[in-house]
Amino acid sequence: MAQRALLLAALLAASAALFGCALGQKSVSVTVYVEGTVSIFQSIAAGSSPKESFLTPPVEEPEFIYTLIDRATDKPSAFAAIRVNFSDKAASLLSDGDLVQAPLTLELPLEKAVLLGLDPESSPDDYAAGDSGRRLLISEAHEQARRMALDFNETRRSLQEVQTLLGLLNTLELLSFDQVATSDEPVIVEKSSEKDLFIVDGKQLEIRSVTFVFSSSSCNVFPPLDSNDIRQLWFNNDQGNGTLQNYFETCSYNQLTFNQEVNPIFDVDIPCVGSTAVGPYNFRTGYGNGKNTDNELFALPALAKSFLRRNYPGILERWSSYRRQIFIFPFNFQQQWFKPYATAQFGCSAKASDCWSWINPSMRESSLDVSRVFQALASNTGLKSSDAPGLPYGDPSDPLGDVWVNGIRENITCVNAPQSYKAGWSSPISRGHISAFTLPPGVHRDFILPAMGLNKSNHLRIITDNSTGFIDDSSLKSQRALFVSYRVSSQEAGGYDSGLYQGWNNRVWIHEFDSRANGQPAGKPSVLLKVLANERRSPDVPGWGMLGNNFTTVLPNGGGVTIFFKSRTSSSAKVSVCRSVTQNEGASKATCSDGLDNDCDGRVDSEDPDCASFITRTPPPATNKAKSTTSQPPPKSLMETIEGFHFDV
Ligand SMILES: *[C@@H]1O[C@H](CO)[C@@H](O)[C@H](O)[C@H]1NC(C)=O
Ligand SMILES: *[C@@H]1O[C@H](CO)[C@@H](O)[C@H](O)[C@H]1NC(C)=O
Ligand SMILES: *[C@@H]1O[C@H](CO)[C@@H](O)[C@H](O)[C@H]1NC(C)=O
Ligand SMILES: *[C@@H]1O[C@H](CO)[C@@H](O)[C@H](O)[C@H]1NC(C)=O
Ligand SMILES: *[C@@H]1O[C@H](CO)[C@@H](O)[C@H](O)[C@H]1NC(C)=O
Ligand SMILES: *[C@@H]1O[C@H](CO)[C@@H](O)[C@H](O)[C@H]1NC(C)=O
Ligand SMILES: *[C@@H]1O[C@H](CO)[C@@H](O)[C@H](O)[C@H]1NC(C)=O
Repeated sequence: MAQRALLLAALLAASAALFGCALGQKSVSVTVYVEGTVSIFQSIAAGSSPKESFLTPPVEEPEFIYTLIDRATDKPSAFAAIRVNFSDKAASLLSDGDLVQAPLTLELPLEKAVLLGLDPESSPDDYAAGDSGRRLLISEAHEQARRMALDFNETRRSLQEVQTLLGLLNTLELLSFDQVATSDEPVIVEKSSEKDLFIVDGKQLEIRSVTFVFSSSSCNVFPPLDSNDIRQLWFNNDQGNGTLQNYFETCSYNQLTFNQEVNPIFDVDIPCVGSTAVGPYNFRTGYGNGKNTDNELFALPALAKSFLRRNYPGILERWSSYRRQIFIFPFNFQQQWFKPYATAQFGCSAKASDCWSWINPSMRESSLDVSRVFQALASNTGLKSSDAPGLPYGDPSDPLGDVWVNGIRENITCVNAPQSYKAGWSSPISRGHISAFTLPPGVHRDFILPAMGLNKSNHLRIITDNSTGFIDDSSLKSQRALFVSYRVSSQEAGGYDSGLYQGWNNRVWIHEFDSRANGQPAGKPSVLLKVLANERRSPDVPGWGMLGNNFTTVLPNGGGVTIFFKSRTSSSAKVSVCRSVTQNEGASKATCSDGLDNDCDGRVDSEDPDCASFITRTPPPATNKAKSTTSQPPPKSLMETIEGFHFDV
């Protein structure tokens, strides 16, 4: 009640005419029907980098922003982009490049609607009379906004028109600060199934990009990086191969190429304050639209295109053949207003002409974090981050996580198995693509995994979700699976995983990932669950809590899958996979005498202390001495096979 009274008081203060207004209604809506292409933008946080920081990367969760874009015409002045909150429809319905028709709704808070005479108490006639004394005087701009809102409401409009209305409402400060248009019923008119730069069936693809390195002499902004520096970071050279080219070529087993001839780089000088089709931008302060950093982001492609139009029209004509466009500018040259290290369009469509990444180095850096640029371009393809449970970017073995690269200028660390599988770069070893549900229970099946760098068939994919059918990579449905892979640092500078941190070298990695290699953007990040080796962790190695010699996951039908590390060489690792049907071998006499390791703990029947009660009641034949005691040393059947197994603590 007290709150209501306060609200009433506030409203009365705003306008005496509101006396008696329906208190239930807090806003006035304007709904407009539009058509546009969905574009999704992912923010990418700076890496935390020191290798000690594993499991506490001070990084932000990636944010995904949905926009509707109108680029139906190539006239730059007709470009329009509007952020939209599709709420729960976003994940299920939309991917970059889909053409949708959607109602966009803007809720004007009642006290703002009053300022436009749009509140429920007013009528157009009322207002038109203009002299009733009931209305606040409003400016020309308010009057224009009011008319537009009334005309547009419940009609079909172009995105440009809506952008104009939003610009006006923002200028007049009639929308709350982080308010965006909402849409709960987007209808896809044209699905964009053509995703680009996924490798399909080993067919080689050429990456073509254009990179723009911006400076602003009119504002005295001369960043420490120019196109020559970027060239050293993009393309292999004798200074070192910690380059974008090497990330793409080596990590994709040369199924992607990134050649200098088709990836031009330009220096572009721009006014740091100005205006483009989306409205005013201001690189000194950001927030040219009064709300967020969209106008600054969208200004860079527009300024890049106008640079090309003047200087390299041939490149502009072939714009859509350059599948990636990269914009580099130290956004925070004067003050801190743009947080992410990079922002990237997520899951670009092969049919769309644009696919953008923005990189935001500081004015102090004379280099870039190439692993984050690689992450931005991987996001363009549709790969999400590499996480650990509850920890965005928590995978220290992957540039899409939070990797620390040993020799950042000369070496690279490639992606984890699920990301590599998703991108179409690598695949399971032969007979290593399995469903947990079809494994014979209680049996340890061995697999030899080559180090990921040595063979593009290199991991196990074990399906742990029985609700989605079994092995079918082409299906669009997500499907939970475990990935088991072995990572070894190449001895050659710049080779596959040459930058892998020593503490992570020669390890077997267990990840969970929900997506299939179906050429579509990933729905979720990959998640690192466990790192396997046959050693106890020395305390100076970070992330020790992740290390062990076995890993178990519970299956939906109550059983489980256990993976044991068994042995390794410098080129391969042996693991075993076992499906359990019970957590306790001693559950019954039958499970204690069937010759199976029913609970997959590495101990069969009488070797398993769980079976002690059955054993003592029914002593085994005298020939099998080992079976009669419960105080024996760790059972041997599996232990023996674990090379050099010892605990040194
Ligand atoms: C727009 O139309 C809806 C539905 O008719 C109505 O509820 C709303 O008040 C209208 N908005 C304005 C600003 O007139
Ligand atoms: C989007 O809308 C939903 C429901 O309308 C709301 O709960 C959510 O906070 C909104 N998200 C953003 C980022 O505005
Ligand atoms: C980088 O790779 C190229 C081949 O792409 C090779 O010729 C060059 O020697 C390498 N540079 C270094 C420093 O290893
Ligand atoms: C790069 O990798 C090679 C091969 O693993 C290694 O010998 C070298 O020390 C690394 N470079 C740096 C600077 O750490
Ligand atoms: C890579 O793996 C495939 C399938 O598992 C195998 O046939 C091939 O011989 C391996 N290649 C090398 C170089 O080991
Ligand atoms: C499996 O891992 C657990 C936890 O790390 C450990 O306690 C157990 O001894 C391991 N099992 C075997 C058979 O080594
Ligand atoms: C998946 O497992 C559950 C639990 O055992 C079972 O009820 C269901 O029928 C299984 N579904 C399939 C497709 O096998």
